[in-house]
Amino acid sequence: MTLTAPAAPALSTDEVLALRRDFPLLQREGLVYLDSTATSQRPRQVLDAEVAYVEHEHAAVHRGAHTLAAEATERFEEARGTVAAFIGADDDEVVWTSGATAALNLVAGAIGNASAGRGGAEADRFRLREGDEVVVTELEHHADLVPWQELALRTGATLRWIPVDDDGALRMDEAARIVGPRTRVLAFSHVSNVLGAVNPVADLVALAREHGALTVLDACQSVPHLPFDVRTLGVDLVAFSGHKMLGPTGIGALWGRREVLNALPPFLTGGSMITTVTMERSEYLPAPQRFEAGTQPTSQAIGLAEAVRYLQGVGMERVAAHEAAIGDRLAEGLDAIDGVRLLGPRPGAPRVGLASFVVDGVHAHDVGQVLDEAGVAVRVGHHCAQPLHRRLGVTASTRASGYVYTTEDEVDRFLEATVQAVRFFGVRS
Ligand SMILES: Cc1ncc(COP(=O)(O)O)c(C=O)c1O
Repeated sequence: MTLTAPAAPALSTDEVLALRRDFPLLQREGLVYLDSTATSQRPRQVLDAEVAYVEHEHAAVHRGAHTLAAEATERFEEARGTVAAFIGADDDEVVWTSGATAALNLVAGAIGNASAGRGGAEADRFRLREGDEVVVTELEHHADLVPWQELALRTGATLRWIPVDDDGALRMDEAARIVGPRTRVLAFSHVSNVLGAVNPVADLVALAREHGALTVLDACQSVPHLPFDVRTLGVDLVAFSGHKMLGPTGIGALWGRREVLNALPPFLTGGSMITTVTMERSEYLPAPQRFEAGTQPTSQAIGLAEAVRYLQGVGMERVAAHEAAIGDRLAEGLDAIDGVRLLGPRPGAPRVGLASFVVDGVHAHDVGQVLDEAGVAVRVGHHCAQPLHRRLGVTASTRASGYVYTTEDEVDRFLEATVQAVRFFGVRS
């Protein structure tokens, strides 16, 4: 689960080139796509699976009594099983959402509902009161920060956070001070979407457990990139998105321990999540359906299951090894450029296949524009992590992020274009 000793060899250049042939978009002439942390590209297999389902099996799931609806439901539930197995979970512990943002809002919203008195006695453990604390970290994506801010505002709980050091590493000495008897929820990301650093999940879970706090893991940047097993990690809830792991947009998942999911009151309410409804009140189904109100994203779920099969075909150990190699090449190359400040772990330290940087005195948008002119697509801005950027003393950065289809040659083309950008802006002679 750490990146220190890859358990499998990285992909060879020939293997990556063979994989790339599966990705229609990567055939675009002259494009170097280094924005996979924002969203990944989809292989033909995923596109075909979605189309085949829509052409031959599409119907509303869990509703109709006709044969087509039964087939669609079967395919939809098979997809759930595939995604559940990929993360070491049981099928009924995986809730479909539209993405990680929706999954995290679901958890914060359900805790908010419990705090407002919803749910039975089993929801007592989730009720927040004034003086209770919700703890996050300073490096969270806004999707794992703003819902907790809102929850704290709604309930009177206090939001606290574990700070980072100058390299963006979590201050674990501070964590031990901040997570305490008043902590009810500890929410943190597995891998930083800005720094590529892997956070010490086991240590954070141990701290939370000591105080009986619920742990919520934002695994948006780890499920796509590392072997991932919910039981080994020991957290209570996990959120991730399909479009960052070769799958479609509009689909993601929340995993939760069965007993946690079934004790939480619903967040969204409506059709398909109830047993009986009278004009006065409703009874809810157990998880996962109690969190899946409304018509479900069926073709997206089927596409995500196909993406999972694709990643399993490559092997997640090998995906991780390839990413470690890409991450090292990016970090070493950027660190060697005069006038460039690499953010996050030093070259050689564990990171997934991404690196963010700033060019002295030049706005990230200007760097991004020069790179774009060279055909290199990167992300510029605060990457939905303003507090982290503020802590690192910058307003914005440029992020290059690869994936299973990224070649060493692409990384080198990006590095050459960055050298050109630095020269263009006259940062160093
Ligand atoms: C770490 C992290 N958390 C949450 C999200 C939100 O994911 P989505 O926009 O797919 O809901 C992202 C997306 O960039 C992310 O990188």
